[in-house]
Amino acid sequence: MPSTIVRELEKPCAACEAFSVCEKIDQDYHEQLIQSGWNYRVLKDADGRRVSSPIRRCSEAFWKLHASTFEGKEVLEIGCGRASLFDSAFIRSHDVRYTGIDPHPRRRGLPPIQSQTIPSKFFNLFIRCLNFPLSFLINLKHKIQPGSRIYYIKDFFPSDKLKRNIYDVIYSSNSIEHWHEKIGGSSSDHQWKSNFNDIEKSVGLYRKDIQICYDLLKPDGVAMFDCPIYLHGNVLFFRAFLDQIRTIFQSVPWNKITYEYWRKDYNGLRAYLPDDFKAACASVYHMEVENIWMLGIVAKKQS
Ligand SMILES: C[S@@+](CC[C@H](N)C(=O)[O-])C[C@H]1O[C@@H](n2cnc3c(N)ncnc32)[C@H](O)[C@@H]1O
Repeated sequence: MPSTIVRELEKPCAACEAFSVCEKIDQDYHEQLIQSGWNYRVLKDADGRRVSSPIRRCSEAFWKLHASTFEGKEVLEIGCGRASLFDSAFIRSHDVRYTGIDPHPRRRGLPPIQSQTIPSKFFNLFIRCLNFPLSFLINLKHKIQPGSRIYYIKDFFPSDKLKRNIYDVIYSSNSIEHWHEKIGGSSSDHQWKSNFNDIEKSVGLYRKDIQICYDLLKPDGVAMFDCPIYLHGNVLFFRAFLDQIRTIFQSVPWNKITYEYWRKDYNGLRAYLPDDFKAACASVYHMEVENIWMLGIVAKKQS
């Protein structure tokens, strides 16, 4: 197996381009943050819109830093959900050919039902009736069509609806930690007894996933992942089994892999650790957490 160049990069908040944005949020919402026990997820701005969480802001900074990687490329986004950073304006202006895969993707053609503003049951029913044949038709065409710019696949990854060796870039944001979250030790498990089998099982499943990502990429292709550490999801991510995560990613012969540690050094900002979560870590999960941070992984395939 050719050897992989491995790099590890600290991404301290103080050196991040988004530092002033994060600092301003900490200042502007100081009172609300105190009242909510440092829970950023309940913050609303003057127009009633949710203020993004620290991890979301890290994901946006990670995306911006690597946005040129997408330029003119065939991109697969795994776990695009309804709030993907790829919008049609970005896709067109960066000449991206985009495929998103998610069991609950954003629908093409019609906005998601939740975003309808008229709170009428009948109106929603009407939209559902319209949406059904449209999504049925989209799902019928589950094959990749080279050349079509925006395409969604409604399925879990890995999916046999994906062909091999066709993507320049695979991108996945805040999703990988959810792929195997029913395994013991994950955030839904409130009675974990440190069973090492759960770790091994997770490693086995994720190794298969990363091998499939590797096979889906063209030579020289790039895989980019970001995910929170200590926030939720599968045991490896929720309980920070970083050696195992690195073992998974390095089980395929990348040319180069970089691990980026975002917000691990949060100097100048507050730690991201809501009070109730801190209490749950101690009493329910029996783990010590000081700060939730984000892991970014950028891996380049051999040519
Ligand atoms: C927290 S959301 C993130 C959505 C979007 N990437 C974002 O950053 O806003 C996680 C997404 O991963 C999706 N997901 C979970 N398991 C998946 C799998 N095996 N394959 C594809 N998507 C998956 C979920 O349906 C969900 O939409």
